[in-house]
Amino acid sequence: AEVKKIAVIAGDGIGPEVVAEAEKVLKRTEELFGYQFELERGLFGGIAIDERGTPLPDDTLEMCRRADAVLLGAVGGPKWDNNPKELRPETGLLGIRKALGLFSNIRPAVVFDCLKDASTLKPEVLEGTDLIVIRELTGGIYFGDKFRRDSENGREAVDTCVYNETEIERIVHQGFEVAQKRRKKLASVDKANVLETSRLWRETVNRIAPEYPDVEVEHVLVDNCAMQLLRRPSSFDVIVTENMFGDILSDEAAMLTGSIGMLSSASLGEGSFGLYEPVHGSAPDIAGQGIANPIATILSVALMFRLTLGYEEAADVIERAVKNVLDAGHRTGDIAVDKSKAIGTTAMGDLIVAAMLR
Ligand code: NAD
Ligand code: IPM
Ligand code: MN
Repeated sequence: AEVKKIAVIAGDGIGPEVVAEAEKVLKRTEELFGYQFELERGLFGGIAIDERGTPLPDDTLEMCRRADAVLLGAVGGPKWDNNPKELRPETGLLGIRKALGLFSNIRPAVVFDCLKDASTLKPEVLEGTDLIVIRELTGGIYFGDKFRRDSENGREAVDTCVYNETEIERIVHQGFEVAQKRRKKLASVDKANVLETSRLWRETVNRIAPEYPDVEVEHVLVDNCAMQLLRRPSSFDVIVTENMFGDILSDEAAMLTGSIGMLSSASLGEGSFGLYEPVHGSAPDIAGQGIANPIATILSVALMFRLTLGYEEAADVIERAVKNVLDAGHRTGDIAVDKSKAIGTTAMGDLIVAAMLR
C-alpha cells in the first residue's frame, strides 16, 4: 500500500496519554490491512513554549503541511494560563487551524446504546441520538481584532466578531452536503435576534437553501438550541453554526454520549487533508494518572480513515471494536457507573486493539 504520512502532535496534559492509544490503533490497522504509516512527531502547545519559546514552532507547521493528515492530542494547562497571548498554547491551536485553512470542524455526538446509563440525562431522552455539530473554525470572535484600551470606567477589553459571506457560504454548503448524506435535517444555529453577524449568517443560509431542496432547514437561536439539545436531542441531525456557538454546543452535546471523553473531531479545509483531535482538552485535573478515556482520540482515527484516507473498512473495524468493548462492559472512570470497576487509559486502548478484527 501507499505510504501515508501522519503528523503526530501529542501536546500537553492527557494529550500524550490518549495519543499513545490512538497510535496503537493505527499500528493494528497496518497489520490487519497492510497499510503503511510514516509517523512524524512535532512539538506543539505548552511543551513547545517550554522547549522552543513558541506554541507553534515553524518545523511543526511544516511537518503538518508535508503530511496527509494530523493526529493531535490536546494542549494547554495551568502552567501557561497567565502567559501573554502569543505565549499561550491555545494561540498555537488557533494558529495551526488558520495556517492550514481548516475552516470546518466536524464533531459527531452518537449515543452508544450501552452508555445510555452513563449520561447524566435520562436514557429515554437519549434514545436514538445521533447528531453532528459542524462548527465554523477559522472566523468569528476567535479571530476578530482584540485589544485593550483605557476608558472613563477603568480598563476596557474588546473582542470583535466578524464574518464575511465567503466564510459563511463554505461552511453552510458543508452543512447541507453532510445533511444530504444523512437524515436530511439541518439546524442552523445563530443569534439573529441580536447579532449582525448572525443576521448575515441566516440570510446566507436562506439564499443557499434552494440548492438543497431535499434538506429541511430549521433556524434555531443558540440559547434555545442549548435547551433543545437536552430536551429533544434525538431530533437533531446536522447542526451548523459559527465558531464560538459550536465550541459551546459541542461540549454540551458530549454529555449526551456520557462523557467528553467520547467525542471525536475532524477539522477540514478545501481538500482531503485534515486534522483529527478529540473535542476535549488537556484535562489537567486527571493528567499523569493514566485514567483518561482514549476513545475520543481513537474514534478520531476512524474519522481520519473515513474523511481523509478513504479507508472505510478500517474505520468500520475501529468503530465496531469500540462498540464491542463498551458492550462487554469495559469502562474508563468518566463513563463508569460503578467507578470502582473502572479501567485505565492503556487497558482501554489494549482492549480496543484486541477487539479489532476484519
Ligand atoms: P477539558 O476538556 O480538558 O476537561 C474538562 C473536564 O473533562 C475535566 O474534568 C476533565 O478531567 C474531563 N475530561 C476531559 N477529557 C477527558 C477524557 N479523555 N477522559 C476523562 N475525562 C476527561 O477542558 P478544561 O478543563 O476546560 O480545559 C483544560 C485545558 O485544556 C485548558 O488549558 C484549555 O484551554 C485546554 N483545551 C484544549 C483543547 C484542545 O487542545 N483542543 C480543547 C479544550 C480545552
Ligand atoms: C476546542 C477548544 C479550543 C477552542 C480552545 C482550546 C482554543 O476549546 O478545540 O474546542 O475553543 O476552539
Ligand atoms: Mn472547546
